[in-house]
Amino acid sequence: MPSLPRMTWDRPHLLGLEELTRDEIVTVLDLAEHFTHDSQERRKKRANLAGKVVVNLFFEPSTRTRMSFSLAARRLGADVLDFSPSGSSTSKGETFIDTAKNIEAMGIDLVIVRHAATGAPHLLAQHLQAGVINAGDGAHEHPTQGLLDIFTIRQIRGHLDGLTVGLVGDIAHSRVARSNIHGLTKLGAKIIVCGPPTLVPRGIEELGVEVSHSLDAILPRCDVINMLRIQFERQRSGLFPSITEYARLFGMDSARLKKAKPDLLLLAPGPINRGVEITPEVADGPHSAILKQVTNGLAVRMAVLHLLCGQPEEMA
Ligand code: NCD
Repeated sequence: MPSLPRMTWDRPHLLGLEELTRDEIVTVLDLAEHFTHDSQERRKKRANLAGKVVVNLFFEPSTRTRMSFSLAARRLGADVLDFSPSGSSTSKGETFIDTAKNIEAMGIDLVIVRHAATGAPHLLAQHLQAGVINAGDGAHEHPTQGLLDIFTIRQIRGHLDGLTVGLVGDIAHSRVARSNIHGLTKLGAKIIVCGPPTLVPRGIEELGVEVSHSLDAILPRCDVINMLRIQFERQRSGLFPSITEYARLFGMDSARLKKAKPDLLLLAPGPINRGVEITPEVADGPHSAILKQVTNGLAVRMAVLHLLCGQPEEMA
């Protein structure tokens, strides 16, 4: 297997893309590129995380993120523990911090946490010795999803600088939106956030983005569109008249796609509500990189794990 370049991050945690510098983001993208070659030699494992213990502490549902982190950690030689709140002592009244501290007492190097409360990973980072990775905190940030979205755009378009990226849908409740905004603006992309007025937070322009409430109006200008899921689980009701109306105005279908640039790149973090944000023929069509994003997620997470607690090859 080709040896890895020496790349480092001078931070113990990954809590959000807001606090990363442009250089730190480029470092993770470059390192992830090396790991994409590993996927082609899938049976071989690296040993950079040998002897390390990584725990998945997920208090919200997850398919892609959790499995991708587990596989990434195993590919680097770590032991992986999986925590699920149902069936754990949180149902007996144990607090979040106590649960985490007890798991840490078994000898943990990294905690990957997903929680419905904004700031939960930041709280853990204050209380634990272990490194903490935010795998999604409420509607705040989901940094590895942001990184894999950015990685996929760079891989397919070759660069980020000067691209116009539309973030479409439920901006108000989307942690993916916030991580995309922080990451992409640092790398020189222009962001347009687009959704019904009730799903676009007031004052979001302060993050350096343009706001639109018409997908048809912005579509011809976009090089990339990231279709964000309606976060029904985080919404109060009545934020838009009906799902059918939402799909008609903000959903991506074949007819609407004709108004886009011929090489428009379509992303979606998943899970998708087929027929709401995106029709099946578009989700599975030539513009879509949805499954490519999932593949890239593995390489990006290997890069993040390595930067936070990996050992150089000769010591591993
Ligand atoms: C995202 C999440 O959980 O925030 N999903 C994911 O990690 N792939 C987006 C979503 O749930 O809509």
